[in-house]
Amino acid sequence: MSIEQLAETALAMVAAGKGIIAIDESNNTIAKRFAGVGVESTEEHRRAYREMLLTTPGLGEHISGAILYDETIRQSTAAGVPFTKVMMDNGIIPGIKVDKGPQPLAGFPGEVVTEGLDGLRERLKEYYQLGARFAKWRAVINIGEDIPSGSCIEANSHALARYAALCQEQGLVPMVEPEVLMDGSHDIETCYEVTEVVLRSLFDALYQQNVMLEGTILKASMVISGKDCDEQASVEEVAESTLMCLKSTVPAILPGIVFLSGGQSDEDATAHLDAMNRMGPNPWPLSFSYGRAMQSAALKIWSQDLANNVAKAQAMVHERARDNGMAALGKWSK
Ligand code: 13P
Repeated sequence: MSIEQLAETALAMVAAGKGIIAIDESNNTIAKRFAGVGVESTEEHRRAYREMLLTTPGLGEHISGAILYDETIRQSTAAGVPFTKVMMDNGIIPGIKVDKGPQPLAGFPGEVVTEGLDGLRERLKEYYQLGARFAKWRAVINIGEDIPSGSCIEANSHALARYAALCQEQGLVPMVEPEVLMDGSHDIETCYEVTEVVLRSLFDALYQQNVMLEGTILKASMVISGKDCDEQASVEEVAESTLMCLKSTVPAILPGIVFLSGGQSDEDATAHLDAMNRMGPNPWPLSFSYGRAMQSAALKIWSQDLANNVAKAQAMVHERARDNGMAALGKWSK
């Protein structure tokens, strides 16, 4: 796979006014989301829910790609059309989550490292054949008393870089996601310091593993106050701090940065992205790769009547896609 093709895919993922919908919840995670709205997590419910999302009329107007889970990339609509075909027909690039989730990091209580490198090359080959053109790997960094440790950050960056190199070898654009969690009572300054160290370590590791940045997308967490911090930073502060942190650590040659929503409210996630784009021009397109902030309102509607609320839920998916697409241009208005 040539770097030109990878770069072309990466640029298409962050095309102006478009972003990504993350629907790659593992079966454990989707079961939690379903439980929250009283839906049983059966394979058919998961399939029907993802069909509702992916067949939203006009989704491709604001969505460039969708991240799927292993089960989802093999599924089809009720009429028998593979999800990947529905996506490609609507100009939406199929992506796939390939990590196997965070596990406790031995020797470092309270910290985790993401697993999934063993056998990854073979899995990537299959996902490419199934239609995936980009992949995602999420590392999780906890902030707390004396954590994160340098060892935890380094272990996660190393795994992200090895994953990224394997993706590029197999023709997939790696989306590298080092998520600094919002959980905790830390302030925004602490989040800034941790995010800065994490990004420095990540780009150093990508360089060490010969990863071509032109064919890589960063999925970043915003620099934001901890959920339980007494003082919550304003939209402007979050936007300014996040931009400053990214500009100090992320090479300009990267094709684009997309953000996770991480538990922010729908409106905050949109407002923060919009504010950062209004503060531009920035070195890279800044867009979204939201899971919860794209889906939660629609999931609630769908859960109230699985058979009859599909169109209503899809109208909500489209509204969230349009709002976030406008925010990616710095043109959102409430
Ligand atoms: P959230 O936007 O819900 O944080 O999910 C995005 C994602 O893919 C996390 O890995």
